[in-house]
Amino acid sequence: MSALDFDLSDQHFWARPMAEREAAFDTLRARDTPAFFEEMEVSFAPKGIGYHALVRHADILEASRNPEVFSSGRGGATNIPDMPPEFAEYFGSMINMDDPRHARLRRIVSRAFTPKMIKQFEADVETAAAQIVDDLLVTGSGCDFVTEVAARLPLKIICDMMGIPEKDYQFIFERSNLILGGFDPEYAGDDLTKIAERLLNAGMELQQLVQDLAAHRTDNPSGDLISALVNANIDGERLTLQELGSFFILLVVAGNETTRNAISYGMRLLSNHPDQRALLLEDTEARLPGAVEEIVRLASPVNFMRRKVTRDHEMNGNLYREGEKVVLFYWAANRDERVFADPYAFDITRDPNPHVGYGGPGPHFCLGAHLARREITVMLRELLRRVPRLEAGHPDRLHSSFINGIKHMECTF
Ligand code: HEM
Repeated sequence: MSALDFDLSDQHFWARPMAEREAAFDTLRARDTPAFFEEMEVSFAPKGIGYHALVRHADILEASRNPEVFSSGRGGATNIPDMPPEFAEYFGSMINMDDPRHARLRRIVSRAFTPKMIKQFEADVETAAAQIVDDLLVTGSGCDFVTEVAARLPLKIICDMMGIPEKDYQFIFERSNLILGGFDPEYAGDDLTKIAERLLNAGMELQQLVQDLAAHRTDNPSGDLISALVNANIDGERLTLQELGSFFILLVVAGNETTRNAISYGMRLLSNHPDQRALLLEDTEARLPGAVEEIVRLASPVNFMRRKVTRDHEMNGNLYREGEKVVLFYWAANRDERVFADPYAFDITRDPNPHVGYGGPGPHFCLGAHLARREITVMLRELLRRVPRLEAGHPDRLHSSFINGIKHMECTF
């Protein structure tokens, strides 16, 4: 096998044109053995031992299904370097844990995320989407689609669920952008050595906000999620204040930085593929669910999660040794030609569409998947109905290896 002429650990790789990223991951998927990459040097943690890049759909399914071997808790899942202990206070929530701690937290919080509960929010999602389109129409001819349309719905819904007042939306939006800002100077600043400090500050500020709300809700419970989480539920389980803080940070970040990008990519895909838009307009109700899945497949807003191998293990013919890291590149698996015919085509009628945009099958499968589907569906339906000729311009992409983000994107109508 010839040496690779790119390096996934080089931050510049993630700023290169999409066509280069596609070619690089095509090369990786064509190999029989996952490539091994050295880790990049970061200011906040010692250099790690490197990682195997899992890019095939089959590898991602199997690693996700087998959390006893592929651990999220040993050093974290949302980061490639092991998470330093001082970060755990704010970022050490269930996504970065293994069972039984993970299962306990997931049990407590998942009651808020069942389809039945999400149904209760349906009217709120519809009202919020209608308001966003009202405001878009007031602009007369267009605006920045990301900040004025796509970002607003997930932010409002997650804040409403938590009972956070509107005056705090911008504060939350800025902290959440900073936490997942990657290497992007617009959010992370120019001095990457200060990243740790900025992350910790953002974590601390969000935690403070939710703990102040929680103190109030303990004495004055209302119908929101914070009240439900700080007051003992039917099994007598509740979250500690630290758990509440880090769960809140996870929700804010996971809820905002993903759905926003799916909506933005969705608009861009529909603008670039008038045939698919026409198909969708022809029978919106019947075709929207398939379109939303196809958008999440191609957008893959979360590019990867990582795992640490807990014991020597063979998977799909390759050996992984205890202590090694593997990175599950969902974006790459969602283009696996063994599973998706013509994988780069945007086909809203693709069926089946077993993408791994929300993660693979396993205990960490996205808790917000129902909500995200709902939000993307309602936002697109409202746009298609009221601004059917909306055109999305060139996306200004976030410079990040973790989030496939669009920071800004002009739209016209
Ligand atoms: C299109 C939108 C979204 C995408 C693409 C997405 C993707 C993902 C992925 C890839 C995982 C990790 C799975 C793993 O480690 O195996 C995840 C986990 C998670 N997501 Fe989402 N997500 C989205 C929306 C949301 C929303 C709206 C929320 C909540 C409001 C949310 C909350 C969570 C939580 C709490 C976890 C951790 C679950 C656990 O560790 O048990 N996500 N998501």
